[in-house]
Amino acid sequence: MKKRFYVTTPIYYVNDVPHIGHAYTTIAADILSRYNRLMGNEVFFLTGTDEHGQKVEKAASEKNRTPKEHADLMVENFRQLWQKLNISNDAFIRTTDVNHIKTVQGLLQKLWDTGEIERRAYAGWYCTPDERFWTEKEVVEGKCPDCGRPVEQIHEENYFFLMSKYHERLIKYIEENHSFILPETRRNEVLGFLKNNTLGDLCISRPKSRLSWGIPLPFDENFVTYVWFDALVNYFSATRYLVPGAGDAKLGDFWWPANHHLAGKDILTTHAVYWSTMLMGLNLPLPLNIFAHGWWTVNGKKMSKSVGNVVDPNLMVEKYGVDAVRYFLFREVPFGLDGDFSEQALINRINTDLANDLGNLLSRFVAMALKYFNGEIESSDSLDNFKEHCIKSINSAMDEHNWSHLRFNLILESIWSIVSETNNLIAREEPWKLAKDNQTRLKVVMCNIWNALRLITPMLYPFMPSTAEKMWTQLGLKSLSEEAGRSLEIFSWDWKPGYDIKVSKAEHLFPRIETGEPKKK
Ligand code: ME8
Repeated sequence: MKKRFYVTTPIYYVNDVPHIGHAYTTIAADILSRYNRLMGNEVFFLTGTDEHGQKVEKAASEKNRTPKEHADLMVENFRQLWQKLNISNDAFIRTTDVNHIKTVQGLLQKLWDTGEIERRAYAGWYCTPDERFWTEKEVVEGKCPDCGRPVEQIHEENYFFLMSKYHERLIKYIEENHSFILPETRRNEVLGFLKNNTLGDLCISRPKSRLSWGIPLPFDENFVTYVWFDALVNYFSATRYLVPGAGDAKLGDFWWPANHHLAGKDILTTHAVYWSTMLMGLNLPLPLNIFAHGWWTVNGKKMSKSVGNVVDPNLMVEKYGVDAVRYFLFREVPFGLDGDFSEQALINRINTDLANDLGNLLSRFVAMALKYFNGEIESSDSLDNFKEHCIKSINSAMDEHNWSHLRFNLILESIWSIVSETNNLIAREEPWKLAKDNQTRLKVVMCNIWNALRLITPMLYPFMPSTAEKMWTQLGLKSLSEEAGRSLEIFSWDWKPGYDIKVSKAEHLFPRIETGEPKKK
């Protein structure tokens, strides 16, 4: 039976242009989506933009635009980048969508009607850039404990979601559901935080006198809702109007809850605590997993506009190609840990893993196949040890646990283990010598190399879709995207296409990048 798979990225603020951190999460969601489509699952991959709140209002007013005008312009930077990065999202949500606004208001009304929201007088320390209240205890010497900027004391009436009442239930839920928060270290952090602190109630409104750019509370027009309440609901509201066949309530229920919410470690609390308790208050099922990934530094330093070291993914793609960037981000650092981005590290990966190990393997194979057999590859016996190694590695690349725990680097390592073993096979067998004196063995060796390359191609597809398509064609096969998802057979050693195979020459997949001094004329 077909399984359904729903994955989300955070929705990104439109106050600024996208950077490598945004690209990172979105490519991760793309890898998961493409893999699940290959597995024959029904996939809904959602990304989008977070357009309300103070940050966007401020950025717009600095440019003399209305917030909506600003959002309409900035959203294009995200859409264009996703195209450039070959992102296969099924929908793009904007929090200014009328249907999203209606859903947020509907949920707020439901919480108000069921007594989950209360109006109270409130005094607290407020960090304007972060749009967050902090308690006296949390504030560090008059500064926001998160961003270090000054906080101000604010007295006002506000509406509160009674989050505190779900404190114990949330702890129990996290304890009972081991993969609800991943990686494990982050799960332990959230549990530690919940066990060592009293969970307060969540202020979910802002008086219009202070902030007008938000969704009005349906039960009090003098207030708009807190941007995080609005933003988190996107994951749910998309299932009401953006899924295939939307409008049918049953379909919405089919897609909810999500399999994975991917987010950076800095926004884990809002997802694991605010969102989970909001869902409890609404009597809705919790997502199956929230995965917090690490942060990229640049040459060891935090990325920041003032330092001027923010990595523009557009530039990286233009310089090195989309698949090389996609590969690097997920091979270099385990998803979940922090990593350091440097162009040198990217170039090293391109030259070793991509140009040398994979690209050379394919081009050597194709050249030999053309020279010795005019490109025609005939079925022949398997080399037992080689076959066994390939099957073991492909099984580990397809391992359910690796995928459900987003161990992308291990999956890529398993694929590369086949690449190395195939390179070793060529070194051992020396086909150019066999061509002189052992045609029978040559046929066997070449067919085994073909099979190994053919086996890794669909596994590479989620990570490097256009490279995989090119490999598939060079290997004499018709269309990977057509084949993909039709049957899991293409992941088995014995799969055959059902037509004659004729490999064809094409340009090298990944030309080496020369970094030495320019040659003197
Ligand atoms: O937080 N490395 O949006 P956002 C890796 N609108 N990831 C990074 C990073 C880095 N150096 N810097 C930032 C928001 N990120 C909200 C989300 S969801 C309901 C609302 C990641 O545009 C960061 O961890 O500020 C976060 O996951 C993402 O970029 C979006 O940031």
